[in-house]
Amino acid sequence: MYFETKQNFMSYPFKINSLEAYNKAREQSVKDPEGFWAEIASSFLWKKRWDTVLNWNFKEPKIEWFKGGKLNITENCIDRHLGTLSNKPAIIWEPNDPDENHRVLTYRDLYNKVIQFSNVLKNNGVKKGDRVCLYMGMVPELAIATLACARIGAVHSVIFGGFSAQSIADRLQDAQAEYIVTCDGAYRGNKEISLKAVIDDALVQCRFVKKVIVLTHTRTPISMIKGRDVWWEDEIKKVETMGNPDCPAEEMDAEDPLFILYTSGSTGKPKGVVHTVGGYMVYTTYSFVNVFQYTPGDIHFCTADIGWITGHSYIVYGPLGAGATTLIFEGIPTWPDAGRFWDVVDKHKVNILYTAPTAIRSLMGFGLEPLVGKDLSSLKVLGSVGEPINEEAWHWFDEHIGKKRCPIVDTWWQTETGGILISNMAGITPSKPSYATLPLPGVQPVLVDENGMVIEGNNVSGNLCIKFPWPGMLRTTYGDHDRCRTNYFATYENLYFTGDGCYRDATGNYRITGRVDDVLNVSGHRIGTAEVENAINMHAGVVESAVVGYPHDIKGQGIYAYVIYDNTHDDDNLTRLDINQTVSRIIGAIAKPDKIQFVKGLPKTRSGKIMRRILRKIAEGELENLGDTSTLLDPSVVEEIKQGRV
Ligand code: WT7
Repeated sequence: MYFETKQNFMSYPFKINSLEAYNKAREQSVKDPEGFWAEIASSFLWKKRWDTVLNWNFKEPKIEWFKGGKLNITENCIDRHLGTLSNKPAIIWEPNDPDENHRVLTYRDLYNKVIQFSNVLKNNGVKKGDRVCLYMGMVPELAIATLACARIGAVHSVIFGGFSAQSIADRLQDAQAEYIVTCDGAYRGNKEISLKAVIDDALVQCRFVKKVIVLTHTRTPISMIKGRDVWWEDEIKKVETMGNPDCPAEEMDAEDPLFILYTSGSTGKPKGVVHTVGGYMVYTTYSFVNVFQYTPGDIHFCTADIGWITGHSYIVYGPLGAGATTLIFEGIPTWPDAGRFWDVVDKHKVNILYTAPTAIRSLMGFGLEPLVGKDLSSLKVLGSVGEPINEEAWHWFDEHIGKKRCPIVDTWWQTETGGILISNMAGITPSKPSYATLPLPGVQPVLVDENGMVIEGNNVSGNLCIKFPWPGMLRTTYGDHDRCRTNYFATYENLYFTGDGCYRDATGNYRITGRVDDVLNVSGHRIGTAEVENAINMHAGVVESAVVGYPHDIKGQGIYAYVIYDNTHDDDNLTRLDINQTVSRIIGAIAKPDKIQFVKGLPKTRSGKIMRRILRKIAEGELENLGDTSTLLDPSVVEEIKQGRV
């Protein structure tokens, strides 16, 4: 038994080493899911073993993994590595500016810093169960703050640095988060973003916020409000004057919440996806080790932002759970030039590179020149996430980055799934360009038709569902459990519905074909069309709008907005810029439409429903074959829209 023993974690009892072992594990996981997961969970550090492996029904839904088990995820991600790995780098931080020094935090350093900041949080009144919003750039302190919350049992809610004050205020209110950790500013390429100023704007609407802890990073002038705002560095000094006390890890139930992460859906309001401590820990480490075939000593570089689920699971928790070295990169792929990623790989001898198709496509556009003189021979495994990867990008990645010797894992998953569900395992199961391929053992995907009938066999397409719980799945949407039910568990009885369409080929490989709901995937970021419409509609002069996606060479999908505007404006282009400003203010720059077409009317049915299918086709440039338009109230608007296409 592994319980309460600090076993040598460098061997991963759950690591799958061959195709045969994969097949066997997959079979066992279906036959006896509870036994399968109990064995995996047993290799983690628990303060007390669980009472039951799994309680579940998808009706409510109720999902409980390892209930009654007591643990703290930070003891698994940090403390238990101190024996063998204390001098090993846990975090390598590469700054935005290549001329600035990078930083290395060993597991011992990380431990010390997390303990210190845990005490800072406590000194500022944060208690177990309190929600703490983290709005920071990609600095190591973001990972430290995340782990410090987990250490004391506070629920972190990281908000991506590109969201606006209004978006932050909405999330703070929804989560009733009384504490914020932020930076004065953040660097992104040649831009400096005033994070604290954005927080200040958000807090005008959020008087319930008690404390804002501000890390000095850009040293840009900021306002500090007495009694509410404190400097990170001053608070650390206070802890040092106290003699740097220890901070024992709070005992958490496996089903206590670990974090809330907001994501878009088909309605106008983002959902606070809730993940819990035990299952999330087990699932992220299990999937990290297996998909990337992590071997001790590997340097892992995931290029995502910690503000998204990819960063939570595969920059912070998964790699640290495995005792790996995780690289945090502050910058962007194209600054100071399009060779920046390759410089980072070369400089830090990166072994695993996990990035997004949109980044690959954008770098492809710069040709091969940025690769000249860059030694990429350390790379062993490449990964892709966030959207379907097109074959052209796949082959470029394979040829020019992996030099045809690195397996590429195409990892399909979602904020709600906590970790990778469908993917090949590097070098173990075969890859197939543009296919996520096979489920991880423990994951049971099914395809269903519109009536919810399960589609058996191969060479079939349908809506992707999962028919059995896995430990990393969401438990609820914060403050509104019924929303979780209606969104994910009510479309098809007894199934978790992903919102994705999917094809299963002749040999059982899965290929994700994209969302089947009104959700866009722009540069790997999920954006609800309703949210963008709400923002556009707030612009003075806008009467109504409809937003759809269209194929975009780099972003995957672009945002196309049809806008009915009162006819007092004189300059279409200026009005477009104005509307974009409003969207930036309400959501953030990531949601700005790429194209805005002013129209006199929208194609509506007699019952007033917008026929998006038609708008989508026109945005895609498909002007013929618009399908049945006979149910339209006024078919002539379609002609006008076709004429005015931008
Ligand atoms: C949606 C989830 C999971 C981390 C990043 C995005 C799409 C994700 C793939 C892939 C095809 C993919 C799906 C999914 N997606 N990975 N490998 N192939 N599509 O997280 O914001 O929660 O979005 O991203 O449509 O539903 P997210």
